[in-house]
Amino acid sequence: MTGTYQALTVDLPETESEAAQDLLHEAGAMGLETRDREGPLMPGVRAPAQGEVILVAYFEDAEGAEEARTQLEEAFPTARTHLEEKQQEDWSEAWKAHIKSVQVGRLWVGPPWEQPPADTVRVVIEPKMAFGTGDHPTTALCLGAVDTYMASHPGASVLDVGTGTGVLAIAAKKLGAGRVVGTDNDPVAVELALENARDNGTPGVELSGQELTEVEGPFDLVVANILANTLIELAPLIVSKVKERLVLAGVLTHQKAEVEAAYVKLGLVAEPGATQGEWVRLDFHRG
Ligand SMILES: C[S@@+](CC[C@H](N)C(=O)[O-])C[C@H]1O[C@@H](n2cnc3c(N)ncnc32)[C@H](O)[C@@H]1O
Repeated sequence: MTGTYQALTVDLPETESEAAQDLLHEAGAMGLETRDREGPLMPGVRAPAQGEVILVAYFEDAEGAEEARTQLEEAFPTARTHLEEKQQEDWSEAWKAHIKSVQVGRLWVGPPWEQPPADTVRVVIEPKMAFGTGDHPTTALCLGAVDTYMASHPGASVLDVGTGTGVLAIAAKKLGAGRVVGTDNDPVAVELALENARDNGTPGVELSGQELTEVEGPFDLVVANILANTLIELAPLIVSKVKERLVLAGVLTHQKAEVEAAYVKLGLVAEPGATQGEWVRLDFHRG
């Protein structure tokens, strides 16, 4: 792969770490690394000062990274920031140390250099420039929902909005889904999702950059792991694609009520979802 990406390094007090991470996620960081004084550091990596953490947020383009930097400096005036352009070839190397496999229900999702345990349904995702290696809480929350639904609905049709690496779509197919469609408005993600579908032996998954208006539905299960504001914006379109069940993620605890209300208003019935750390998953069914 050619090209560059942006690494925004932020030194700030430990007490501000969580809120700063939220801000960076919301500002569109594709990946986020936290260096504290507890864990071992990679050789050559600078340690945080006493009482501080170092956050490294990765962005696709300079404009997005600059905007995030401005927002962060406004919200956390004591933070020290440094923005650096990096070569994309370094991306997977930089991430190898941080990507971990996850096991959710019957599913194992991990990088190609890890060995999955026997008796798991394997989805192998090599970390590249798209979101969805499995180890982010929002992805793990959705994997759990996909596993549960597919266990009781073999052959169900599935739509994955904001497919990223294609991880959820591929997982659904491997768990016995019928028609599976994944869309993403990032062409790089679509390209990688297609590659991943091929490598995982699920080439039948329909992955594209199609607008939802162009996607023929509805689907038994719709999954959308995007950010709260996008989920609210897309609510009418997403709801129009739901035949039976909808699962939303990418939502922080304090955003839950607002996102839920947008979907209940359109006729869906909210169910108890799930939580992992600061992230929530919202589950709905058609009334
Ligand atoms: C948080 S990632 C989720 C990736 C994967 N589904 C997972 O669960 O790990 C969100 C994805 O949604 C895509 N996205 C953001 N806004 C979108 C939109 N309006 N329409 C379609 N995709 C969108 C992003 O490009 C990104 O790949």
